[in-house]
Amino acid sequence: MTNEMLERMEAHITRLDGNLTHVKRVLLLSKLIAEKENMPYGEDILAFVAYFHDIAAYPTYAASYKGSFDHALESSKLAPDLAKEYGYDNNQIEIIVEAVKYHDKAGMGEHNETRLIRNADGIDYIGYMAVARDFVKFPKDMRKAMEMVRQRKVTFGSLIDLDYAKSLAAPRIRELDNFIERFEEESFGIY
Ligand SMILES: [Fe+2]
Ligand SMILES: [Fe+2]
Repeated sequence: MTNEMLERMEAHITRLDGNLTHVKRVLLLSKLIAEKENMPYGEDILAFVAYFHDIAAYPTYAASYKGSFDHALESSKLAPDLAKEYGYDNNQIEIIVEAVKYHDKAGMGEHNETRLIRNADGIDYIGYMAVARDFVKFPKDMRKAMEMVRQRKVTFGSLIDLDYAKSLAAPRIRELDNFIERFEEESFGIY
């Protein structure tokens, strides 16, 4: 992956009003996990999936779906055309589609890239990061934010199944539990 290509992807995410810092962390985390777990992966594929796995959830696209929708599935439908624009071939696109589609589905898919992104994405949604992201998402509704924080703990925990990812997740889960407990105490349940 050249710097130029990465910069092009970054500009793309920014244009779509996407969450650039999240995708950068997901790429970093997935590479760290791959290294510790000795899992081979396609560098260009991993970068593309990290950057575009949530694309359907970005405002540009999200507005076109009615009601609740599976953002991973919808993102995987957008992925092939997008990946072609960046010069990916059909074999790479097959892996990209699987990884995007199953990035939030425990145990699904067979490519290393799928598992790496799922574990990395899961880690970025627990701990202080979960709290920060959920409170930023619902700045005027603490109850809703707390609901999301609690839900993250349940759903994202099950997505993390690689040993090194689990070791990264453990302190974050403890912090999340601690936050939830202290928040309830400090607020007296009034929030
Ligand atoms: Fe996602
Ligand atoms: Fe994500």
